[in-house]
This record gives sequence, C-alpha cells and structure tokens, in this order.
Amino acid sequence: MCLISVGSVQFLLSFARQWVAGVEAEDAIGRSREANSLGMGAIVNLLGEHYGRKDKVEATAREYESLLADMRGLGLDACISIKLTQLGLSISEGYCREVMARLLEGCRKTGIFLWLDMEGSEYTSATLRIYRKCLESWPEIGVALQANLRRTEEDLRSLLPEGVIRLCKGAYRENPSLSFRKRADVDESYRGLMHILFEDGERFALATHDDRLIHEGLALQKKHSCELEFQMLLGVRDPLKRELKSLGHRVLEYIPYGPEWLPYFSRRIRERPGNLITMFRSFVGTQQRPLL
Ligand code: FDA
Repeated sequence: MCLISVGSVQFLLSFARQWVAGVEAEDAIGRSREANSLGMGAIVNLLGEHYGRKDKVEATAREYESLLADMRGLGLDACISIKLTQLGLSISEGYCREVMARLLEGCRKTGIFLWLDMEGSEYTSATLRIYRKCLESWPEIGVALQANLRRTEEDLRSLLPEGVIRLCKGAYRENPSLSFRKRADVDESYRGLMHILFEDGERFALATHDDRLIHEGLALQKKHSCELEFQMLLGVRDPLKRELKSLGHRVLEYIPYGPEWLPYFSRRIRERPGNLITMFRSFVGTQQRPLL
C-alpha cells in the first residue's frame, strides 16, 4: 500500500516537472539558470500556502532569504514571488508584516525584486494593505491583481501610478457576487484593466498565455511608453516566450518548486484538463510528448 502511494507520487511528480522545477531550491536555481541562458528572467516561488504555525512560516522566510543570497551570489537575473499566507497572514496581519519587513530587508541588501502573489478573495484587502505598507520602505515590490474579481478595477486605479502590478486572470474559484465566472467576461475584464495599465501605469507585467490579449498588449505598447514585461509559467507556451523574446520584449518565467507542489499542479491541470490526456499517454508509454 505504502509502496504504491510512493510510486504514484513519484509518477505524478515526474509529470508535474513540466510545471514545477522540483522539490529542492537547487532545482529552482537550475531552472532559473536555464531561463537566463535563453534570455529570460526568472521568478522563483516556493510552493505552499495557508500556514497556521509560526515554525513553518519562519522556515519559509529563511528559505526565501537563502534564495535571495544564492541569486545574488550567482548573479542570476531572478526575483522571488511569495504568498502572504505562507509568510504569516493566516496567523495574523501584524505578524505577517513583521516577517515581510525582515524579508524586504534581505531584498534591499541583495537588490532583488519581490512579487506578492494574489490568493483567494478573502485575502485581497489584507494583501493590498500589506503591499502599500511594504511599498513605503522598498519600491522594488509588485503585486498580482486578478481580472476575474469585480473589485479589481478600483484596486488597480488606487494603486497606480506607484504600484507595480502583475495582471493575471485569477486562478481561484470565487463567489459569483465577487467575480466574473464566464471565460469571455474574465477576458473582457482583463482587456479593460490592461488598457488602464497602459494609460496610467509606468511599470507592469502582463501575466497571461492568451494570444489575443498578448497581441493587444503589443499593439498598445506601440502607443504608450512604459516598462512592460511578459510573465509566463514554467512549462507553458515556450514557443510564444521565444517569439516575444525574438521581438525584443522582456520575458520572465515563473518557476515554482518545493515539496508542496500538488495543489499548484492540480490548478494547472484544472485550467487545461487536456493535460490529463497527455499524462495518461505518458503513463501507458506512448511516445507523445507533453503538451507545449
Ligand atoms: P487562459 O487560461 O485563458 O489560457 C490561454 C491559453 O494559454 C490557453 O488556451 C492555452 O493555450 C494556454 N495555457 C494556459 N494554461 C495552460 C496550462 N496550464 N497548460 C498548457 N497551456 C496552458 N493567479 C492568481 O490567482 N494569483 C497570482 O498571483 C498569479 N500569478 C501568476 C503569475 C504568472 C507569471 C502567471 C503566468 C500566472 C499567474 N496566475 C496567478 C495564474 C493566472 O491567474 C491564470 O490562472 C493562468 O495564467 C491561466 O490563465 P491565462 O491568462 O494563461 O489564460
């Protein structure tokens, strides 16, 4: 029984490696080097969320601090992306601020940019409060905003022009009163928010693999002067990343790693259930390569 489950986990992990660098920090550093060698920046995320124990939070903060030192020591073009619920927000907002203040000190010493991932809508307000506070002491910090939330336009306008925004569609299933649920509505919301970013933003990231939105972003960039970067997930749409690079755009790859890879892997499968077919094919031994 035990052997079967260990084997299953190993099998799943071997498939998940398309999207997850591995379990150890050195795996993420290795994938960051690869991204750099292809001319892309790296955004490293230690997977894990909703920690209710301080020892777990402290260990996570130490791991990020050590990543910052490694990135600096190796001269990588890399930054980190964290979830506040892995750094104390599930315990208390005050404690999370303390942990963040320490981590930002590490960022300041190493000169490394820090992104705040955005989690489920129950954390949006607290995340933005902490973001604003952090921005006062370290300008090299950005926050993700989700186009599927109805509140995002207001949040976005209130954060500009100082805030550095990563615009994504949103990975969490939300209550319809708070969110757009139809894909077309989320895309429309993304489009509107992207226009606001180009008009009023100075520095931001488009985090999507959606061709139509990316092409619209490229057209908007010709009319506006801004510092724009494209961010995409490890293992998704590699040819598109290369195409954007060849056109001279800055592209960053989001590289998650760590023992808690399963929820992240499940989110990627949920977004594109066709990946399950690929997984099944690789399981039964056909030569089909994973999608993308
Ligand atoms: P969409 O899902 O419509 O996909 C567009 C196309 O991209 C698809 O047709 C397919 O071709 C390709 N594609 C997308 N996902 C794929 C997959 N898993 N496998 C293969 N192909 C795929 N969310 C959040 O709530 N908080 C956050 O902080 C972040 N942070 C973040 C950072 C970065 C760098 C990225 C790229 C994304 C996030 N996200 C996120 C996730 C985001 O909200 C969203 O869930 C995914 O990016 C999928 O949405 P797309 O914009 O790619 O569009």
